[in-house]
Amino acid sequence: MSPSLYRPPAPKPIRAILALLRSVVVGDRDLLALIPKDAYQTDVAPLGFSRRKIVLVNDPAAIRRVMIDDVENFPKSDLMVGSLSPLINDGMFVSAGAVWARQRAMVDPAFSHMRVNRAFAAMDGAVADFEIHLDDLVMRGERLSLERAMSHLTADIISRTIFSQKLENAVALDFFNAWAGFQDSVANIDLKRLILGKAWEEVAQSPVALKAASVIRSHLGDLVDQRMAPGTPEKADIVGDLIAARDPNTGRGFSRDEIIDQVGVFFLAGHETTASALTWAFFILSQQPGLVRRLRDEISDTVGSGDIDFAATKKLNTVRNVFRESLRLYPPLGFIPRVSEKDTVIKGVAVPRGAMVMISPWIIHRHENLWTAADRFDPDRFLPDREKAQQTGIYLPFGLGPRICIGAAFALVEGVLILSRLIRRYDFQAVNPQNVRPISHLATRPAGEIEMYLQRVEARAK
Ligand code: HEM
Repeated sequence: MSPSLYRPPAPKPIRAILALLRSVVVGDRDLLALIPKDAYQTDVAPLGFSRRKIVLVNDPAAIRRVMIDDVENFPKSDLMVGSLSPLINDGMFVSAGAVWARQRAMVDPAFSHMRVNRAFAAMDGAVADFEIHLDDLVMRGERLSLERAMSHLTADIISRTIFSQKLENAVALDFFNAWAGFQDSVANIDLKRLILGKAWEEVAQSPVALKAASVIRSHLGDLVDQRMAPGTPEKADIVGDLIAARDPNTGRGFSRDEIIDQVGVFFLAGHETTASALTWAFFILSQQPGLVRRLRDEISDTVGSGDIDFAATKKLNTVRNVFRESLRLYPPLGFIPRVSEKDTVIKGVAVPRGAMVMISPWIIHRHENLWTAADRFDPDRFLPDREKAQQTGIYLPFGLGPRICIGAAFALVEGVLILSRLIRRYDFQAVNPQNVRPISHLATRPAGEIEMYLQRVEARAK
């Protein structure tokens, strides 16, 4: 390991009982600070002190069993399904069995390689508009609030690629605020429930989360209705694909409400996740000037000062590896909980029916026995030779198996495009880097704002 490798911020793991006490006293609902030190060393072990048993699974063969080989016996956690269903009903992220299989078959084509290529122009247009906003900020000498900005940008990209519409007016603001409200108040990060709740207990959602979900669904309903109105011309976007999709067995299409469920899923799963990954990538780059120089050289060797088009995003290997390494150290979904349908045993650990089986990309990606220099930022670990030497099944920012993220290719292209365009154009200087620390609510995000001063690269060079 090179001694110069950067170690980006992470909570210092402490003993389990102290971690629990800390959470109760501080009350920040942060799941990362609850992880005890031995979680990063163990294979499979009971976790914490809850009424409902929680079993942590870090061993690659056991992860494979839960997420691939024996997937029917480990469905998604009821706690997560219950919290998200006011927003997305039985939409794809939470549905199961035959309902899920039909949805996945109908939605898959909208995220094929060809369709991601088609969505590229909309992504690029959103980044170009975002640059105008950033130039303005630079001119006024104002700070950028990194996470909010990334969240706006990725929501705009989802809006343009799903509905061919920019996210820019008062309705958009109401919609955007409702998302923030939903994420802050949704009950699946309720510590009390996690510790005291029984398996399959009905989750009562807070009125704030329910209100936010109904505001979001009503906006999405208006947009879907505009597109389904008779005589509306077809458009080449994701909602167009959903309207045209047919069940391969029955030939039936999605109903209006099912379309709202699925577009709700794309906003939910596809916007804060990518925003979180980009927030961490830009923060890390602000601390790594040598790496920024490498990226600029790669971009300039690949496209000169020309456009970064779809084909170019495939060639920018170091940029992609920076994005992938950010996803390793800060997986946007740090926890992928499952529930055991039966009494079973995983690697010698008894798992009763109803136990929560915790697959945690955050822990697996930082596991001391699975990675060399696990807590260091090293994008070159994804160079082909080094990647080949790694164990398989230990890198899972997009999940694994049949429920793997449908938007992974979309997100990778989007991430590489945004990183390369913005890093070529601006220097990022973090205002208080020493205060930055991650927490996990729905996504892995900074505990406070990360503020940045930006400077145009050409202006600095003069
Ligand atoms: C860096 C960005 C992203 C990350 C880290 C991410 C991560 C994940 C993960 C871990 C899962 C599996 C969850 C589980 O097994 O319980 C998932 C599923 C899913 N993601 Fe993503 N995602 C990202 C971007 C996107 C985008 C851009 C979209 C769509 C526009 C999307 C749509 C979905 C959907 C629909 C599912 C459910 C798939 C199914 O159950 O069949 N995601 N994502």
